[in-house]
Amino acid sequence: MKDIRNVAVIGGGTMGNGIVHVFAQNNFNVTLVETKKELANRAIETIERNLDRMVTKEKISVSDKEDALKRIQTSLKLDEAVSDADLVVEAVPEIFELKRKIFEEIDKSAPEHTILATNTSSISITKLAAVTGRPEKFIGMHFFNPVPVMKLVEIIRGLETDQNIAETIQKLSEKLGKVPVTANDSPGFVSNRVLMPMINEAIFCVYEGVATPEAVDDVMKLGMAHPMGPLRLADFIGLDVCLDILNVLYEGFKDPKYRPSPLLVKMVDAGKLGDKSGEGFFKYDK
Ligand code: 3HC
Repeated sequence: MKDIRNVAVIGGGTMGNGIVHVFAQNNFNVTLVETKKELANRAIETIERNLDRMVTKEKISVSDKEDALKRIQTSLKLDEAVSDADLVVEAVPEIFELKRKIFEEIDKSAPEHTILATNTSSISITKLAAVTGRPEKFIGMHFFNPVPVMKLVEIIRGLETDQNIAETIQKLSEKLGKVPVTANDSPGFVSNRVLMPMINEAIFCVYEGVATPEAVDDVMKLGMAHPMGPLRLADFIGLDVCLDILNVLYEGFKDPKYRPSPLLVKMVDAGKLGDKSGEGFFKYDK
């Protein structure tokens, strides 16, 4: 199998720019693919800011930062960007039809040896793999926010993912300084199947008047040593993203235990999405 040197990351949003950051910091050549120049520029600015933060904390040197930035290119052309990629990591919004379109195009333009990975948080890996002509080279590579900080990469094997591909991606994750944990394809995988019901239950506590958002979060921070309470974390992830994932669990298992809290639905309807909209369970500076 060809060594992975060139990586294309599709999407420069919160997860995408973090993924580009860790690949570039760990000596890979990365092409960040976006749909507009302004979005690509914004992603690079975020990466620079996060690399600066690491320089300030003396985790990397100024020259490490500059070298990492030199390894990043941006592109608005998906077909060109993947034409010499050994690995493509897709990190676009959680809309199946959008991902389908992108993977069909990647599959046409990427060389035969290229591994296709998705950072989806809950869409079926098997279903996404099936839109390509190479389901054996398709895998879930699920990073966690903030990507430069969180140690986990959840690796999800689709029904047809080749064992060698899974092992290659495990080793690659270690080269990124991460800890890979492997799961089979199932709604929400492990991470969101465990995390989202906890967040949903925290929202039910507020909905039913059991406690305030502050009190719910204090219980989990002070009693269970969580770095963020579940409601602060829900805001950080995005309430729309939490709702989408709960719906995937609910529909995937057909089990009422995953039904989203009506309060979560209402907040998303009101545009209160958490950090990104300036308000969720708590208020933020935009
Ligand atoms: N890039 C680089 N470094 C960053 C960073 C970023 N984007 N964000 C934070 N950091 C660094 C800081 O510089 C700091 O470094 P230090 O340890 O050397 O001082 C360290 O991370 C901690 O940051 P802060 O001191 O600013 O703030 P906190 O101590 O409050 O930590 C946090 C922030 C790391 C976000 C912490 O609150 C945390 O771990 N929260 C839980 C996050 C979590 O659960 N993420 C998973 C979400 S689920 C997901 O992503 C999956 C999806 O499918 C839903």
